[in-house]
Amino acid sequence: MDKSWKIALFSCLLISLFASAYAQTCASYTFSSNRLYSKCNDLPYLNSYLHWNYHPTNGTVDIAFRHTNVDTSTWVAWALNLNGTGMAGSQALVALHNTSGLPHAYTSSVSGYGTTLAESTLSFSVPSLSVEYVSSDMLIYATLVLPSNRTSLNQVWQAGPVSGGTPGQHPSGNNLLSTGTVDFLSGNTSSNSGGVASQMRKRNTHGILNAISWGILLPVGAIIARYLKTFKSADPAWFYLHVTCQSAAYIVGVAGWATGLKLGSDSVGIQYNTHRNIGITLFCLGTLQVFALLLRPKKDHKYRLYWNIYHWGVGYAVIILSIMNIFKGFDILNPGKSWKRAYIGIIIALGSIACILEAFTWFVVLSRKKKNGSDPKYPHVSNGENGVNGYGGTRSQQVV
Ligand code: HEM
Ligand SMILES: *[C@@H]1O[C@H](CO)[C@@H](O)[C@H](O)[C@H]1NC(C)=O
Ligand SMILES: *[C@@H]1O[C@H](CO)[C@@H](O)[C@H](O)[C@H]1NC(C)=O
Ligand SMILES: *[C@@H]1O[C@H](CO)[C@@H](O)[C@H](O)[C@H]1NC(C)=O
Ligand SMILES: *[C@@H]1O[C@H](CO)[C@@H](O)[C@H](O)[C@H]1NC(C)=O
Ligand SMILES: *[C@@H]1O[C@H](CO)[C@@H](O)[C@H](O)[C@H]1NC(C)=O
Repeated sequence: MDKSWKIALFSCLLISLFASAYAQTCASYTFSSNRLYSKCNDLPYLNSYLHWNYHPTNGTVDIAFRHTNVDTSTWVAWALNLNGTGMAGSQALVALHNTSGLPHAYTSSVSGYGTTLAESTLSFSVPSLSVEYVSSDMLIYATLVLPSNRTSLNQVWQAGPVSGGTPGQHPSGNNLLSTGTVDFLSGNTSSNSGGVASQMRKRNTHGILNAISWGILLPVGAIIARYLKTFKSADPAWFYLHVTCQSAAYIVGVAGWATGLKLGSDSVGIQYNTHRNIGITLFCLGTLQVFALLLRPKKDHKYRLYWNIYHWGVGYAVIILSIMNIFKGFDILNPGKSWKRAYIGIIIALGSIACILEAFTWFVVLSRKKKNGSDPKYPHVSNGENGVNGYGGTRSQQVV
């Protein structure tokens, strides 16, 4: 008996939990001043709700946009994007506490990502607009004359910081996911998880592919070439390891580069020129490096020295540019701090390993020099049957 009560109570609790998770919280909200709206929707991000009445006779809609838990130094906005999706081109209703400390609403046509949300007229008419700030909720009320009687439209909503009375840029994260569609007639809404979320996924894929290939595999391959080569016993293994590592880096890197080109062509209005140009340079230099491997002169050819200098120079340039571009990418993508820290950690680790190996190599080379004195085999060094001298150091560092 006792047990069944507990089970019943527990099920009730579970059911009400699920019910409350699925129920629209907007439906139970009562507006002050007796405003009534026949339809509403819980927007999927940023604690926001949209309520409305649509009038088919004259193609107008009365809306109420509510953003909960905002302080007085936060702006909120809701917008329709008539000709596209996302922020650029959207027609926004903005609310904030102005310099008089009063809640204030106005319209702003958002031309692009560099907007400061200055007041401007929208591409459709807004016969009424007002604002209310109640128990930390910011409420925007408006009547919109929907252009050409359209009812199914793209919507975006947002919140960001106000400083000195002007709106500042909103953060990323969920603030880049707050887009979707609304059908004022049917009440159908959709969150644009397909659009922006997949864009985020693409950006992350781009970042991970490039960080692993250009940012990690490439320097590891260079370290292998420079330091393993010192040891006779590692010949020709170092050469195959080096080629495998750099080929893998190149293949993954080109895939990452291609995702970057796609992202670039998809992004409207915003351009990351430095990141893009370094990326293209890296692709060219990397490709050159692969072809150079096929054209390398035999080890005792008189041009081999020049080839070595070229291969060495381009190799290090690629590594330095790659690391620079990955940090540029971090600034754009703005992933959690831990990602940036992890990459910095890896770079520091690789750098330390290179330093230790460098010191060790010099130690070995110098002690051999001392021991062998005028050994005819030294400093001339065999590079193994491949006759390859890759990224590696100068001949005097190589040890038989
Ligand atoms: C102070 C004014 C604003 C600035 C400086 C600003 C800046 C930006 C920037 C730079 C991005 C691209 C970030 C990225 O892709 O990494 C972005 C995205 C976005 N913004 Fe804004 N924004 C402002 C106002 C608004 C307003 C008023 C809304 C909506 C009413 C909005 C909604 C969005 C949305 C949904 C995205 C992600 C989707 C997209 O890229 O279009 N923003 N914003
Ligand atoms: C549109 O029609 C509704 C009801 O049909 C009316 O209440 C409203 O005032 C009208 N709006 C405009 C701008 O004509
Ligand atoms: C959307 O496109 C229509 C037709 O091309 C144009 O008249 C209107 O101004 C555009 N609206 C915005 C906000 O760009
Ligand atoms: C602040 O907003 C209120 C309400 O819209 C308005 O009456 C007042 O003039 C505004 N003050 C400033 C400094 O813009
Ligand atoms: C919108 O629909 C109403 C009612 O059907 C009609 O009277 C009006 O002319 C239409 N407006 C536009 C711009 O098509
Ligand atoms: C609302 O959306 C659903 C699914 O997208 C669709 O099946 C339904 O027909 C839509 N309702 C109206 C009235 O457009």
